[in-house]
Amino acid sequence: MSEQNSLILDGPKGSFAVSKRPIPKPSTGELLVKIQAAALNPVDWKIREHDMFVTEYPAVLGSDAAGDVEEVGEGVVGWKKGDRIYFQGYYTNDQATFQQYCLIPADLAAKIPERYSYSQAATISVAFTCAAFALFAPRPIGISLNPNFDVAIKFTGQPVVVIGGSTSVGLYAIQLLHHLSFSPIIAYASSTHESYLRELGATHLIDRRAVSFSDLPSAVSNLVSKTTSSPLKLVFDAFSGYDAQKAAYTSCADGGEVITVNPDALKPEEKVNGKNIFQVVGTVHFPHTREFGTKMWKVLGKWFEDGVIVPNRAEDLPNGLQGIVDGLEKMKSGAVSCVKLVAHPQEAV
Ligand SMILES: NC(=O)c1ccc[n+]([C@@H]2O[C@H](COP(=O)([O-])OP(=O)(O)OC[C@H]3O[C@@H](n4cnc5c(N)ncnc54)[C@H](OP(=O)(O)O)[C@@H]3O)[C@@H](O)[C@H]2O)c1
Repeated sequence: MSEQNSLILDGPKGSFAVSKRPIPKPSTGELLVKIQAAALNPVDWKIREHDMFVTEYPAVLGSDAAGDVEEVGEGVVGWKKGDRIYFQGYYTNDQATFQQYCLIPADLAAKIPERYSYSQAATISVAFTCAAFALFAPRPIGISLNPNFDVAIKFTGQPVVVIGGSTSVGLYAIQLLHHLSFSPIIAYASSTHESYLRELGATHLIDRRAVSFSDLPSAVSNLVSKTTSSPLKLVFDAFSGYDAQKAAYTSCADGGEVITVNPDALKPEEKVNGKNIFQVVGTVHFPHTREFGTKMWKVLGKWFEDGVIVPNRAEDLPNGLQGIVDGLEKMKSGAVSCVKLVAHPQEAV
């Protein structure tokens, strides 16, 4: 067996088609993984739409996945053929996940707890990494709330708002903020998800369908003043267009911090009173993020095993790799709500 099916983007802003490419061999320290589930992220349609990140075509996309170890590279300890793992892929053709096999560094994988399916495990890597980097990692990777994952560090009584509380990133941010004992945790999301967000740790919900971004700062201010005497020093904007960022920045108290998941769109003259905007980039594959990423991946494995953090909801897509094309369109149209779309590359197209 030397070839695999891959979903290939033929050029900048081009077309996707399933076609054959070689199965790579693992180098020292790497695993070859047979991908059983590959989750979709907004960046996957944005790469095609805006011709960003990827520099070489034809290109394979996708970075969230779960599967079985197929082959172990030299020097790897702790993994064997058949182990069920989840991991974050990357945008090189051998490391991307919209295909049947990919390579990953062995120290950036975690074992799937028995109670979880491949689909559930595939929801984890990018969204979790984004939320955990933003909150825990040292600067400049994150805002350094707890870079050593010290269980004694708590933020009891400190309020926080999560804009886009039901986005994939927002769902993990809420769980991590709950783990850090922030309170109240106010989610801005559709009210249909209220009970689920409360299960994950949100204490209050502001309905995004009833309160516009322009009205959000006053709604936040009312709620915060009713629930705590502490100022709102942290806003996690997991949605992050200009209007969301403006609402996040306005809601935040002087000297506070706004986390954004997309580039900062505010003009310099809109920034006042020592508030900081921090843009997170959630990949463990950059040279400067690799060390913290490896450390985080170990903690992540334990948190999922112990149930400290639960995976996001998964919705399985039909038609194997081909199903990704419609899935990306659905995501781009804004029709995905509080769920992760997951494709199955081993299924026939
Ligand atoms: N920087 C990074 O490393 C990084 C990593 C991952 C993602 N991102 C970016 O983060 C953003 C979210 O990605 P994701 O994968 O988490 O998204 P996602 O799960 O695809 O987001 C879907 C959610 O968006 C919510 N939404 C739509 N309009 C909204 C609004 N006006 N206000 C609040 N929420 C709204 C919907 O909420 P309701 O269902 O409640 O209506 C829906 O649940 C994207 O822009 C993505 O590119 C960045």
